[in-house]
Amino acid sequence: MRSIRNIKFMYICICRAIRDRDIETAVRAGARRPVDVFRACGHQPQCGGCAADMRQKIEQVLTEEAATAAPLLAAD
Ligand code: FES
Repeated sequence: MRSIRNIKFMYICICRAIRDRDIETAVRAGARRPVDVFRACGHQPQCGGCAADMRQKIEQVLTEEAATAAPLLAAD
């Protein structure tokens, strides 16, 4: 029997099978809007139902990157 604790990713966009880790990769490559993420993943939006969750994930990744970069910048 599999445990739910072993899940390593989550689908954010069901229509295009875009995972949270795909969004992270796209944001690190410069994506800032859901349409950028779709483009980076080689897809176009279908229903658009994931847009709010995708925006939230984009903000989360950007916030985490800023928090990681801040100590590095402070050390300069
Ligand atoms: S859930 Fe992403 S386009 Fe439909």
